[in-house]
Amino acid sequence: MNVSEKRTNFSEILSDDLLDVQRRFSNELISDVDCVNELVRYVEKYRGKMLRPMLVLISAMATSGINAKPDKVLESHRIVAAVVEMVHMATLVHDDILDEADSRRQGGTINFLHGNEAAVMLGDYLISHSYHLCSTIGDQRVSKAIASITNTVCEGELLQLWNRDKLDLSLDTYYEILRRKTGALTGVCTKMGAQLNGLDDDFVQKMYWIGEELGIAFQIIDDLLDLSGDEAVVGKTLGVDLKKGKLTLPMIHFLSTLEKNERENIEAMIRQVEAGQDEIADNLRKMMVEKGCLDYALQLASERVAKVIEEIEKLLPESQGKMMLLEVAHAVIKRKS
Ligand code: IPE
Ligand code: IPE
Ligand code: MG
Ligand code: MG
Repeated sequence: MNVSEKRTNFSEILSDDLLDVQRRFSNELISDVDCVNELVRYVEKYRGKMLRPMLVLISAMATSGINAKPDKVLESHRIVAAVVEMVHMATLVHDDILDEADSRRQGGTINFLHGNEAAVMLGDYLISHSYHLCSTIGDQRVSKAIASITNTVCEGELLQLWNRDKLDLSLDTYYEILRRKTGALTGVCTKMGAQLNGLDDDFVQKMYWIGEELGIAFQIIDDLLDLSGDEAVVGKTLGVDLKKGKLTLPMIHFLSTLEKNERENIEAMIRQVEAGQDEIADNLRKMMVEKGCLDYALQLASERVAKVIEEIEKLLPESQGKMMLLEVAHAVIKRKS
């Protein structure tokens, strides 16, 4: 299938389903406490890319043709789509506290506008509502899967925190952090698309792998954007990772290419960035660009996506959903925001 020949209009095809997802999302969060509604209205105002709900809907479409008609979306898919966006939003609200980030989705973060206490509680409110909404599907397998994956996301964020300031962070640990903090949630999205269509465990597991790998590639690109993206385009605080002592793929690779003396110099520079010297971060970025470390990371993410595309081609029958899943895979690498 040649994706570039036949581009689909995502927002047109998914518009009714996405509207339904947003409606369920909003209804779930209504409170009889005014200040809670005010905070919720604020996080709802700034829609993100809706990647995770789209992955649920598209995977539903791409797998419905195996036992029935292609490109169908069930009500349970739309509920799960709202649930995963809510889990995602909760993790972002909490993550912005950890990262002391000021902006998100072109607006101020909750911690910046209302303080860490409000952000902690709003994150909790979102996560507990996501489980409540999920329970309305009445399928224990779904509730278990969402709860288990949320545990994995928290483990990923904790593993990352634990490895802060570790300048000898291995590539394996880096990937493990990404697999947990980002891949697990995107994995459950593609998995649920198939599982709710009644497909067998082996097939469902393959769909999980597709989402998980896409999530890891998505996070590698996010880490690249943190180093070299345009804050006005990405819409969130960038340059956070190094400042917070989080080593990402370009830096791990850069350090691995250096002799002992050079490495000690670079490590000293990283410590200066952590101490708040932003201009040093700029120097480090230029050095990594010159050494091809950003291109190297992009290359590794592209190779991961290429394998996913191979699997999608092998696994799924022709449908609009399959076409859209392939487009998402390509977009993960090309994105600038
Ligand atoms: C941000 O996710 C957090 C990561 C896992 C990189 P998104 O880039 O999908 O954020 P929104 O939902 O579009 O704002
Ligand atoms: C966090 O990764 C991803 C989550 C699971 C919340 P980042 O810290 O890189 O996400 P951004 O860049 O703040 O969106
Ligand atoms: Mg962050
Ligand atoms: Mg980031």
